[in-house]
Amino acid sequence: MYQSRAWTHGLFVFAWLCWSSLLIRAQDLITDPLEVIALQAVKRSLTDPENHLNNWNRGDPCTSNWTGIVCFNRTFDDEYLHVQQLILLDMNLSGSLSPELGRLSHMTILDFMWNNISGSIPKEIGSITSLELLLLNGNNLTGSLPEELGYLPNLNRMQIDENRISGSIPISFSKLNKAKHFHMNNNSISGQIPPELSRLPRLVHLLLDNNNLSGHLPPEFSEMPSLTILQLDNNHFDGTKIPASYSNMSKLLKLSLRNCNLQGAIPDFSQIPNLYYLDLSSNQLNGSIPQGRFSENITTIYLSNNNITGTVPASFSGLPKIQRLSLSNNLLSGSIPSTIWQSRTLNKMETLIVELQNNKLSSITGSTTLPLNVTVRLQGNPVCSNISLVQFCGSESKNNDNSQRLPNTNTSVCLPQTCPPPYEYSPTSPAPCFCAAPLLIGYRLKSPGFSDFHPYRDTFEKFLAPTLQLFNYQLHIDSFICEGPRLRMYLKLFPVYDANIKGPSSFNMSEIQRITDTFASWKISNLDVFGPYEVLNFTHEYDNYPSPRFALSKGALVGIVLGTIAGAVTLSVLVSLLMLKVHTRNYTAVSRRHCCQSCATIITTGLTSKLQPVCASNASLKIDGVKAFTYGELTMATNNFNSSTQVGEGGYGKVYKGILADGTVVAIKRAQEGSLQGEKEFLTEIELLSRLHHRNLVSLIGYCDEGFEQVFFSYLDYL
Ligand SMILES: *[C@@H]1O[C@H](CO)[C@@H](O)[C@H](O)[C@H]1NC(C)=O
Ligand SMILES: *[C@@H]1O[C@H](CO)[C@@H](O)[C@H](O)[C@H]1NC(C)=O
Ligand SMILES: *[C@@H]1O[C@H](CO)[C@@H](O)[C@H](O)[C@H]1NC(C)=O
Ligand SMILES: *[C@@H]1O[C@H](CO)[C@@H](O)[C@H](O)[C@H]1NC(C)=O
Ligand SMILES: *[C@@H]1O[C@H](CO)[C@@H](O)[C@H](O)[C@H]1NC(C)=O
Ligand SMILES: *[C@@H]1O[C@H](CO)[C@@H](O)[C@H](O)[C@H]1NC(C)=O
Ligand SMILES: *[C@@H]1O[C@H](CO)[C@@H](O)[C@H](O)[C@H]1NC(C)=O
Ligand SMILES: *[C@@H]1O[C@H](CO)[C@@H](O)[C@H](O)[C@H]1NC(C)=O
Ligand SMILES: *[C@@H]1O[C@H](CO)[C@@H](O)[C@H](O)[C@H]1NC(C)=O
Ligand SMILES: *[C@@H]1O[C@H](CO)[C@@H](O)[C@H](O)[C@H]1NC(C)=O
Ligand SMILES: *[C@@H]1O[C@H](CO)[C@@H](O)[C@H](O)[C@H]1NC(C)=O
Ligand SMILES: *[C@@H]1O[C@H](CO)[C@@H](O)[C@H](O)[C@H]1NC(C)=O
Repeated sequence: MYQSRAWTHGLFVFAWLCWSSLLIRAQDLITDPLEVIALQAVKRSLTDPENHLNNWNRGDPCTSNWTGIVCFNRTFDDEYLHVQQLILLDMNLSGSLSPELGRLSHMTILDFMWNNISGSIPKEIGSITSLELLLLNGNNLTGSLPEELGYLPNLNRMQIDENRISGSIPISFSKLNKAKHFHMNNNSISGQIPPELSRLPRLVHLLLDNNNLSGHLPPEFSEMPSLTILQLDNNHFDGTKIPASYSNMSKLLKLSLRNCNLQGAIPDFSQIPNLYYLDLSSNQLNGSIPQGRFSENITTIYLSNNNITGTVPASFSGLPKIQRLSLSNNLLSGSIPSTIWQSRTLNKMETLIVELQNNKLSSITGSTTLPLNVTVRLQGNPVCSNISLVQFCGSESKNNDNSQRLPNTNTSVCLPQTCPPPYEYSPTSPAPCFCAAPLLIGYRLKSPGFSDFHPYRDTFEKFLAPTLQLFNYQLHIDSFICEGPRLRMYLKLFPVYDANIKGPSSFNMSEIQRITDTFASWKISNLDVFGPYEVLNFTHEYDNYPSPRFALSKGALVGIVLGTIAGAVTLSVLVSLLMLKVHTRNYTAVSRRHCCQSCATIITTGLTSKLQPVCASNASLKIDGVKAFTYGELTMATNNFNSSTQVGEGGYGKVYKGILADGTVVAIKRAQEGSLQGEKEFLTEIELLSRLHHRNLVSLIGYCDEGFEQVFFSYLDYL
């Protein structure tokens, strides 16, 4: 019989770990049981065809890496861990939202974007007072907006766009003093916009386009101190006027009231200092266009499809950034000042489109030569009876596809075969033919302040890359397409170029985590001109990794006690494996049994506190010279851990003699559960083991990659 001393003092020849992670904790850290129950209810009410939530019945939400759950990295006064974020974006979930969500009372981010969830928004969400981001856009939600959502004192962002929500906007929303973003477009919201919303001191973006709103536009909106984007297109206001006070909105960057059933005169917006974008098209506006000169920054003016009379004002000339001036289908008459396009100097990225079709315009004042990259459309005006104006009046060239794929520059000389998918040559890397696996991001500007992205593309890249802590060359806009007022694009992010790395390069997991976090938590403070943004999808594909969607949980990293054992050579292997483990309470007993059923036979003692079975998904561990063992091989080697093969008992568990299939005689040390001394002993052994690490003395030669979901820790020693 070997003494336990002997084991702890260096007979280890290698350590063997069956299963992917051993979780240790310093204290009893577990998730608030009420929140666990709530999460279980949340899962029950969802349909999850792709099994993203498979691991939601194993172990503890905060410490067993449940998909999409991020917890606070500390306990609260109640000594429980609490869920901080629930991020289940783009997982093809259907079903409904459980009212139990309301029990996640410390949550700050609730993100179910881009699924197919139906039913209504539970009013219980209104009781999560810590909630900052409510992100439910891109689902199939119905019913009306619960008044209770107005009771969220910390809400920063409400995104419920692209659902089928009906009913009116609760007046209680005017109490959301911290709200900056209301994205509610593309629903069936009806009724009048509550004038009380104008009390919102911080509201920056209000998107209510593509709904069924009626009544009138609240003149009080002009008093909103922070409003920069007001987008209300495609509603049915009752033939109301645009309040004259809107011309006083000092922060306004974009006003979009297309197809809103508006009547009356156009206010004079020339006093708004930073107006980029004005769309009042497809209403029944009449009267003439105010003569005041728009802001220097104006890029886009849509006044088409109205009943506007009078002349084309000379103040449209000399606007330095103008991209699109659209006045078609009105009743404009008189002469067109050609200075509108003659005085606009375009750089090589810029274009100007002037649309004046179907008016009563009779002549052009000034030169009729058309500068490069300017398009003027005059069809349907009396002026076109002058047949010399064919460049203005010729049949309209078909609107070409507005999608753009941006050319790859330096990759044409690279050999295709040396960069097989999913790797590809980075088009912008500092060295040619840099082969890497990009992260692919579907990204959408929901309401940008321009109509042509080309001149702003460079600014966009230069602004986004540093925000993501990337070099400019790492970010490439692969393509973009206009979707009405929105701009959808496809970004590719490449890893850092390193001349020392031969062969293809990829992001590591922590970089991916960091980047996804930056997007998921809206840490990107957009430049105003780009307006609100959203992430549509996020993918990366390469060999050894599963393809994570957005929600990589970082909850599992909570409370790691690795600090004490860092630096140990053997443990560098374990670092990625050791995680916090938790949970004993009765409510998880059932799920534990379930998750650990494949190893139930080797769990011999009941669970107590310190070191406990862990349920985790399998990960693969790659170490030179280390062989993979199956659990079966080890039971075989020890005759199912038969007591006759037991050769000793260490401080941390029993030791068995085993004979591997190739005849190697080994010792297997298996963790024994339930010992109060277990954790301490275990750490001591680990420490010893790591200190004793030497080529001929200690080497890890095997591991088990079967994803056993148990606490099972063994050393295997040569006898
Ligand atoms: C957490 O689980 C996800 C899959 O759900 C996995 O990709 C990831 O590697 C796990 N993280 C840790 C630290 O175990
Ligand atoms: C916990 O997270 C906060 C930020 O959320 C961070 O500042 C702090 O350092 C973290 N604490 C620990 C112990 O990791
Ligand atoms: C999403 O789920 C539906 C069934 O609910 C299925 O038809 C569809 O193929 C799934 N989509 C993806 C991308 O998996
Ligand atoms: C969304 O879910 C509904 C059932 O709730 C189903 O009929 C529909 O096919 C799903 N749509 C998609 C795109 O998966
Ligand atoms: C939304 O749900 C309805 C049924 O409730 C279904 O007919 C429709 O296809 C769903 N829409 C989407 C986009 O899945
Ligand atoms: C919103 O609704 C409009 C009008 O129905 C439609 O054209 C548009 O594609 C929808 N989606 C978005 C994202 O705007
Ligand atoms: C829009 O609201 C009107 C009443 O104001 C109603 O009759 C109509 O059915 C609604 N349309 C939609 C698509 O909800
Ligand atoms: C705009 O604001 C000024 C000063 O606050 C005020 O005197 C004026 O009446 C306002 N104009 C309109 C149209 O509301
Ligand atoms: C135009 O926009 C720039 C930033 O894009 C801003 O600095 C400048 O003040 C704006 N011009 C005016 C007249 O407001
Ligand atoms: C707009 O003008 C057309 C043609 O003159 C007229 O038929 C129509 O009634 C006018 N609409 C409004 C709302 O004034
Ligand atoms: C401007 O016109 C020139 C010559 O037709 C063309 O090569 C260039 O691409 C145009 N620029 C833009 C931004 O369209
Ligand atoms: C992600 O979005 C891009 C652009 O919007 C699209 O081309 C691509 O197909 C999407 N990928 C997935 C996996 O949905």
